[in-house]
Amino acid sequence: MLLLNASGCLDALTAPDVASSLDAFVTKTVTPDPRKGNVPVRIAETDFGMLNAIGLANPGRDVFLAETLPQLRALNVPLWVSVGGFAANEYAETCAQLDDVTIELNLSCPNVDEAPESAAEIVAACREATANPLYAKVSPHSWDMGETVRAVEAAGADGISLVNTLRGVALDARLRPKLARGAGGYSGPALKPVALAAVLAARSATELPIVGMGGVCTGRDALELIACGATHVALGTVLFADPDAPARVREELDAEATRAGFDGPTDAFGIAVHGVARPAN
Ligand SMILES: Cc1cc2nc3c(=O)[nH]c(=O)nc-3n(C[C@H](O)[C@H](O)[C@H](O)COP(=O)(O)O)c2cc1C
Repeated sequence: MLLLNASGCLDALTAPDVASSLDAFVTKTVTPDPRKGNVPVRIAETDFGMLNAIGLANPGRDVFLAETLPQLRALNVPLWVSVGGFAANEYAETCAQLDDVTIELNLSCPNVDEAPESAAEIVAACREATANPLYAKVSPHSWDMGETVRAVEAAGADGISLVNTLRGVALDARLRPKLARGAGGYSGPALKPVALAAVLAARSATELPIVGMGGVCTGRDALELIACGATHVALGTVLFADPDAPARVREELDAEATRAGFDGPTDAFGIAVHGVARPAN
């Protein structure tokens, strides 16, 4: 089992120690052209989680490849690069330029107008462009998670990441949206049941590795994702409040597994799906 950060929730270059405490570092989504992102206000607190409408702000593919990636490589942490775009060929062109990294295709950002192609079409185009491991990060808004997962697997995905944020709105005292864009991506503790349901449905549809994320704050949360069929676990919003979360969650996860009578966390793999544990893939 790998412990990762969720894309966009950690800047490895400003917090290299936090990145090194993970089994692999996942970059913020990279798009072909530089993006300033949405106008402020782009972040809002809510009672049970956080809303963001960053809008994929990033320096763009050329600067990422020439400047950011070499600096990230120097950290000596395995790298996953999150790739975004607005058409299948844009995703594929970035994939073709990446060596020696795992690629996570962001097929599910709620803060930009999405690519018109389906998730499976984008995965198929990227599969042709690269032999690197390819994870498809699909949306929790998917109306049939099993069908989505089977389609991206058939298109050549090596793994599934889920969930991205859910679309949400928060209002200020004057009853106007707190975010300039109106809606944003809702993340944090309230997302956990959504993540568990998505992972459970995905695990029922595929044997591929799954990175589970959404509202993980404790070792117990991570163990629950593993029980629903997550192979790996990613920490997102929790990292903003607690940069020491990777070490803490690992420790808590081992303790929770022992308390539950397992030899280790992976013994819980898939229990919620099948009633009995199966070997982790
Ligand atoms: C501020 C912020 C920025 C994010 N940026 C990205 C991104 O660039 N690409 C992406 O795939 N997901 C992005 N996400 C979504 C997270 O990777 C993750 O899927 C989501 O927040 C759920 O996990 P959490 O509840 O543990 O935060 C972002 C989330 C937040 C809060």
